Amino acid sequence: MSTDGSLIEELKKLEEEALASVEGVRDEAELEEVRIAFLGRREGRISEILRKLGQVPPEERPPLGAEANRVKSRLEEALDERRSSFARERAPDRFREDLTLPGRERWIGGRHPVTRVVDELIAIFRDLGFSLARGPEAETEWYNFEALNTPLDHPAADEQDTLYLKAGHLLRSHTSPVQVRVMESHRPPIRVLAPGMVYRRDSYDATHTPVFAQLEGLAVDEGITFVDLKATLAEFARRYWGPGTRVRFRPSFFPFTEPSAEVDVKRVFRDAEGREQETDWIEIMGAGMVDPAVLEASGLDAERYTGFAFGMGPGRIGMLKYGVPDLRLFYENDVRFLEQFAGP
Ligand code: DAH
Repeated sequence: MSTDGSLIEELKKLEEEALASVEGVRDEAELEEVRIAFLGRREGRISEILRKLGQVPPEERPPLGAEANRVKSRLEEALDERRSSFARERAPDRFREDLTLPGRERWIGGRHPVTRVVDELIAIFRDLGFSLARGPEAETEWYNFEALNTPLDHPAADEQDTLYLKAGHLLRSHTSPVQVRVMESHRPPIRVLAPGMVYRRDSYDATHTPVFAQLEGLAVDEGITFVDLKATLAEFARRYWGPGTRVRFRPSFFPFTEPSAEVDVKRVFRDAEGREQETDWIEIMGAGMVDPAVLEASGLDAERYTGFAFGMGPGRIGMLKYGVPDLRLFYENDVRFLEQFAGP
């Protein structure tokens, strides 16, 4: 027996007819009659078609079988739905669903906006050849200050500025100590990025919080020069803020770099009307050539190796990126603020 697809046609018509019947019933007894008429094992009309499957040529069986099963489950679904709607109508009022209640939205969370920025920065520097390094948040005075060419009578080491723990330990005031730890444990060439939280006895205002994120970078090898530093940071800025971004190095001072610079960026971009726009210069990080004293304190031969380092605050970069006026918003854990950044 060949079907020319006519059995499939028949099934489709049956489906329509069955669904209409389900719609039309007035009570559960009628619903049960409909079920038996279509799905009943012996005389149900769909069961009848399924029985004919055996007489159909083998190659036509799979599509027909699949269609029959689809119609069967569609109908079972419709029957179930109708059955529970009868059950609901029968239930006393106080057990009925209140369809006017607002639904409970599922909170799926998301990465913290500062974490997002850190991840973006890491991805760019990974393409430039940097891998990741981490160091402890509870540091020693040696790693946090002395090895970084900062004597303990330096103002940065003052109790007023730094959170001391017991016996020569403190909460690291920057991520720069990771530089020393990496140089102690790895031979050059070194290219690492060290993200992490840092602590200061700082004011709590729109641009300062006593706990904040930093991102440290370090490259050490034979023959590294200031050109490498400038090229790396300029390339980074163009990848992060767009190809028109300009970078400016202003002379500065850090104990652990010589020479040192503050790095500013200026974004140049086209607005919606196609006109060229530019922002003010915005300071984004400190940087410089690793001071030979730091290389030596870390056990590297400063005659042979040179390097550059930089340190930036992803929180501040996030403020610029998202137009957030107050750094504290990132750290107050107010879900109404944070959930604006939720998502993948
Ligand atoms: N450690 C500095 C700070 O916390 C930031 C910094 C400046 C890091 C210059 C560096 C650097 O590696 O070269 O303010």
